[in-house]
Amino acid sequence: MYLYPRWIRGWHMINALIFIVLIVTGISMQYTDKDSTFHMVGFAMAVRWHNFAAIVLTINYICFVAGNLYTKNGRHYKINRETFVSDLMTQTKFYAFGMFKGEKHPFPVTLKSKFNPLQKFTYVLAMYVAVPLLIISGIGLFFPEITIDRFVGISGLILTDVLHITMGFFLSIFMIIHIYTCTLGSTPTSLFTGMITGYHKSDDHH
Ligand code: HEM
Repeated sequence: MYLYPRWIRGWHMINALIFIVLIVTGISMQYTDKDSTFHMVGFAMAVRWHNFAAIVLTINYICFVAGNLYTKNGRHYKINRETFVSDLMTQTKFYAFGMFKGEKHPFPVTLKSKFNPLQKFTYVLAMYVAVPLLIISGIGLFFPEITIDRFVGISGLILTDVLHITMGFFLSIFMIIHIYTCTLGSTPTSLFTGMITGYHKSDDHH
């Protein structure tokens, strides 16, 4: 089943590589200070690479949103409000019980719907909540003069920084869990191969 068009594979490859650069340089900046001898890449270099990677990430993200607006791939991200909670429950129940009783997958992969409800929910949360907040707070830190000075008595820059670091942390955890869940296809490598070739092998167990 052809599930991953060329553009989404290109977007995803750039996104994954850039995320690794942002995480390494981000952690490096977080744990460096003027007097510290700790550095993974050196502070000035980490800042330069982080800024450059952030610009690539932002342009790439705009392509992701535009691609999902103007191609059929966007339909996989549409959440049906009426069935949202019950779909999540059905999927969770399947992972907790049904799977072990050999029941059929409640939401088999189809051309119209490639994500199960849990997958859809985490992808929407990551791509339409966390990444935009990460980018907006990053822009706020890059241009401190446009960031609000104070908010309920707290420095606007500190709040922006906390938001940025929280989203960075959340997305780093997302990436680790995401890579793990991508090993749960019909074989441990089948989903990775799918993201390279575009084709998903259907399978009755997952
Ligand atoms: C080395 C890092 C990564 C690897 C190995 C990886 C692997 C994969 C694989 C195998 C798939 C296809 C399976 C599926 O559709 O669920 C996938 C899809 C996806 N990944 Fe990743 N991923 C990585 C990083 C990321 C990051 C950092 C993000 C977002 C911040 C992300 C977001 C997505 C999204 C949104 C999809 C679905 C794309 C679509 O078909 O519309 N991935 N990933």
